[in-house]
Amino acid sequence: MELAPPSLPLVEWGLAMKMTSKPDLSIVGSGVAGGAMSQGRGDNALSGAEGLNGFVISDSETLDFIELIHRHSGIVLTPEKRNLISSRLQKRLKILGLASFGEYFDYLHYAPERDDEIIAMIDEITTNKTAFFREGHHFDFLTSKVLPRLVTSQWSTVNVWSAGCSTGEEPYTLAMVLAEYFGATQNFTILATDLSTQALQTAQRAVYSNELGGPIPLAMRQKYTMTGYRSQRGRFRIVPELRERVTFQQLNLIDRDWNVPAGLNIIFCRNVMIYFNRESRSGIISRFRRTLKSDGYLFIGHSETLGDLDHRFVQVQPTVYTHHK
Ligand SMILES: C[S@@+](CC[C@H](N)C(=O)[O-])C[C@H]1O[C@@H](n2cnc3c(N)ncnc32)[C@H](O)[C@@H]1O
Repeated sequence: MELAPPSLPLVEWGLAMKMTSKPDLSIVGSGVAGGAMSQGRGDNALSGAEGLNGFVISDSETLDFIELIHRHSGIVLTPEKRNLISSRLQKRLKILGLASFGEYFDYLHYAPERDDEIIAMIDEITTNKTAFFREGHHFDFLTSKVLPRLVTSQWSTVNVWSAGCSTGEEPYTLAMVLAEYFGATQNFTILATDLSTQALQTAQRAVYSNELGGPIPLAMRQKYTMTGYRSQRGRFRIVPELRERVTFQQLNLIDRDWNVPAGLNIIFCRNVMIYFNRESRSGIISRFRRTLKSDGYLFIGHSETLGDLDHRFVQVQPTVYTHHK
């Protein structure tokens, strides 16, 4: 499902510096690390223990929700996450006016709106932590090694997929880095997908608090973002020229059929598979392989590995892989 772009009043946004046709690669190589601030609840949120709340979840209900969450998202939770499940989901019970987790479980199976509610439930469980220029060495590697190699081989457009894009910081970072590299030619496309409806809506708005822009190199910030005024003071927005390079789409990575065009050159799937079991990761990796062009690249998160899988990729850096068809 492709998402329609939301509308925002344009008068609230100042102009960005003009995008020049001359690429300035010095900025890209500055090694800016991912910022500490996040719109999400933190990578470690799945392991946190929450306090008591008004709704009590029994042991067997906990197991039912763990199974349901796994079936629909691939996320693996253990019974120790009982407090987390209870505290994250109680918001949904309140919104729906339900009295117990048992009623909520029935609702998720029998209500006419159950498909939407399953997405809303998973939205509450997922961790959307992300940042502009997170794991900055990946973007250095992209500009110093990957893009020069792709550009010299037979290519017309570089097609990139940010799989598990969260609130948009990763695909917009990619858009800035690629725009810097290609200058006026703009020969790239970015597909950005996530399971979370809320995260995708934030990503499409492309409006962020100024603190979140900290890791963006100043020259890129001046060129690729607009300052907010009046009701938007304290925020910035990604410029339309970059927003239109990114196509957002809702996609569940554990589904077997992805509506993703084959022939991609680069996939970023960082800090997503960490919550999946081996079987789910194995399926995703083989589908990534089919989706990538020969000599394409896969980037994964700093605490992830393909080491336990029969992946048939060649590792070129600790978290960067390529494959030859
Ligand atoms: C921690 S964020 C990572 C964001 C970004 N890739 C980064 O590294 O900064 C994990 C994202 O994975 C998404 N996610 C979790 N399960 C998913 C699934 N089964 N399919 C697609 N996305 C999923 C979550 O909604 C969340 O936005």
